[in-house]
Amino acid sequence: MGKVKIAPSMLAADFANLERDIQIINQSEADWFHLDIMDGVFVPNISFGMPVVKAMAQHAKKPLDVHLMIVDPDRYIKTFAQLGADILTVHAEASTHLHRTIQAIKDADMKAGVALNPHTPVNVLEDVINDIDVVCIMSVNPGFGGQKFIKNTYSKVHMLRTMIDANKSATLIEIDGGVNATNCTNLVEAGADILVAGNFVFSSEKPLETIKNLWQIANA
Ligand code: DX5
Ligand code: ZN
Repeated sequence: MGKVKIAPSMLAADFANLERDIQIINQSEADWFHLDIMDGVFVPNISFGMPVVKAMAQHAKKPLDVHLMIVDPDRYIKTFAQLGADILTVHAEASTHLHRTIQAIKDADMKAGVALNPHTPVNVLEDVINDIDVVCIMSVNPGFGGQKFIKNTYSKVHMLRTMIDANKSATLIEIDGGVNATNCTNLVEAGADILVAGNFVFSSEKPLETIKNLWQIANA
């Protein structure tokens, strides 16, 4: 089995000490920075926008995994490419012409991700699975950090893994929401490749050690 990636969610960082928290991720075993962009329309919360992403990009030494929880994401594909996003993820529920959106992300030289809300079945991606670099399975309803992990995620990941393997696709499976050291083993066994973790990392006393611990359990 390949290496499982850890992507700490900066939504749970201390925004008054953002550079410090970015350096923690730079020094850690983490693979990607996960950046949650919320517009207050697609989800009931507003997070942060372009100036903050720009500031993060100046210090981050690892790929930026940008998760757009916004309506009509096509409007901002070029902007996030210019800001330094390496992976750009849109929600299937927010894209009317998902195939076109995926191609536009790739044309802007980013990896294309598609996120699915807890109620959206994985089979909506059957006809685009070979076009997608990352499928982000939401294991909470998007909008807030620190929510409880939804257990139905395990069977969704398993179904998605079966679909990916049947299509001989290289698409990676990312899990987002409520990930911790207790559920990560089952997620990896079900087929997860990338684990996003916000509060589990940043609410812990020693984030650096927490990341190392999560990485070791996920890659055991
Ligand atoms: C939820 C966001 C998640 C969130 C994860 O809408 O997409 O990335 O920040 O945070 P935790 O790990 O605290 O659930
Ligand atoms: Zn996210």
